[in-house]
Amino acid sequence: MTEEYSPKIIGFCCRWCSYAGADLAGAMRLQYPPTIRIIMLPCTGRVDILHVLKAFEVGADAVFISGCHEGDCHYLRGNIQARKRVARLKKVFAEIGLEPERVEMFHVSSGEGPKFAALAREMTERALRLGPNPVRREARARWLASLAQEGKPSPAPGSESASDSRL
Ligand code: FES
Repeated sequence: MTEEYSPKIIGFCCRWCSYAGADLAGAMRLQYPPTIRIIMLPCTGRVDILHVLKAFEVGADAVFISGCHEGDCHYLRGNIQARKRVARLKKVFAEIGLEPERVEMFHVSSGEGPKFAALAREMTERALRLGPNPVRREARARWLASLAQEGKPSPAPGSESASDSRL
């Protein structure tokens, strides 16, 4: 059996929209995996590339930023800036051999609880497919060994998956 691997996923969520969307998902009793740790921010424009890199450095397997829909940011362009930073990070990840799918940008409003639950499931599925973040060397080695034991192929790093869908 594959080494038991429970991904750690950090979600930087804007308090006005996505955090409230996560709250609504809870209030609606929607099921989503308990792998998500939410960090609430006044706006996704506050998320710096260094915050995301720090999350990976301390062992996150995937990170997402979720903010207001385009045109709804309370600080006008914070979500646009965040989306650009995520796009830049994806390029850097591809260049250094880390899967760009480990980081993602979403837009979820306060009334979109089901959408938040769906993104939580999607990020969890991605993290499970990609395995532990290479920074977590021992966990990754155990996971790769268990894949090999089962005769399953290791995931190719740095490639976007065909099942990568944007919510
Ligand atoms: Fe929500 Fe800016 S206030 S993303």
